[in-house]
Order: sequence, then structure tokens, then C-alpha cells
Amino acid sequence: MGFTIFFATSTGKTEDVADRLTQLLPGTESKDVDNIDSVDELISAEALICCVPTWNTGSDEARSGTAWDDLAQEIPDKDFAGKSVAIVGLGDSSSYSEYFCDAMEELYTAFLQSGAKLIGKVPTSGYTYDDSKSVIDGKFCGLPIDEDNESELTDQRLQAWVQQITAEA
Ligand SMILES: Cc1cc2nc3c(=O)[nH]c(=O)nc-3n(C[C@H](O)[C@H](O)[C@H](O)COP(=O)(O)O)c2cc1C
Repeated sequence: MGFTIFFATSTGKTEDVADRLTQLLPGTESKDVDNIDSVDELISAEALICCVPTWNTGSDEARSGTAWDDLAQEIPDKDFAGKSVAIVGLGDSSSYSEYFCDAMEELYTAFLQSGAKLIGKVPTSGYTYDDSKSVIDGKFCGLPIDEDNESELTDQRLQAWVQQITAEA
């Protein structure tokens, strides 16, 4: 399955994680969604990995504070039927423990409404946080990455998850 990696970033951490994913998935490209022409570029990918930071603490909408916020409004009306979509969320489980990686769920729900096949859910057991909108039926709806507090775990989290989504896609 040919993944394309799409990311947005404010301070570079999500871009760095997207770069590391390209190394784990040789032949994949990573694209900044700030630079894409339209949501159609997402639709043209065979399978997607979407990397999204959370910045808009506690808000119901526009939780990322990046170009993903507008895309999340458009995606539900588009046709992603059957397309595999995996989500990576960047967040801070210590300073923003009540809202850990909240933006993942906003994208997840948008893609679900578009007919996509959401893959890459992750057990909550490896994380310490108070609350997250991105926990659905007891699992994170994507892979949370915490570069602020647990950067030493990032590589192993990415490696295990790449194996998981490759099998699920
Ligand atoms: C003003 C501000 C608000 C933030 N809000 C949240 C939040 O609500 N939830 C969370 O998990 N992380 C939050 N974070 C942490 C960022 O998501 C985290 O640092 C992330 O790695 C940034 O990614 P980026 O460098 O790609 O923008 C916030 C950070 C800042 C500076």
C-alpha cells in the first residue's frame, strides 16, 4: 500500500516526525498541507498518514491551529470511500494533560464521515494524561507522540505503529 504523509506544523516538531516516518517507509513522500492546492490532493493519495499537532487548547473546533483546521471542514463532504487513513497526533501530555492530542479526533471524525477506512488506533496504556477527546471506545484514534516530554519513546512508537498500519492498510 502506497502511503503519502501529510503534515502541518507550527514549531517544526510535527514536520520532524513526518520526516522520520518517510525514513521508516522508504519511497513515501511527505507534504506540508499548507502547500497543497486543495483537498483533492489528499484524495489522490492511495493511502494517507496525517500528522497533526494540537494547539487550540480546549476548543471544540479548529483544534490544530494549522491548515488542517480548514481541511477538517472540507473532508466530510468529499469521497474517501475505502481509502486507508492513519493519524499521528503531536501533543504535550504534561502541560496540556486535559486536552492531550485533541486534534486527532477532529480529523478522525472528518475522515470517518467521508467514508475512509481509519487505521492505526493505539491502546492508551503507554501514556499518562488526564483527558483526551481522541480516546474513542478506550483507544486513541491514532498515534499520540509527545516530543515535549517523552521524545525518547518516539522512535519506538513510530516503528511499532508503522508495522501496525502496514498490516492494517
Ligand atoms: C499555545 C500552545 C497550546 C497547546 N495546546 C495543546 C493542547 O491543547 N493539547 C496538546 O496535547 N498539546 C498542546 N500543545 C503542545 C503542542 O501540540 C506540541 O508542543 C507539539 O509538539 C507542537 O507541534 P509543532 O511543533 O508541529 O507545532 C500546545 C502548545 C502550545 C505552545
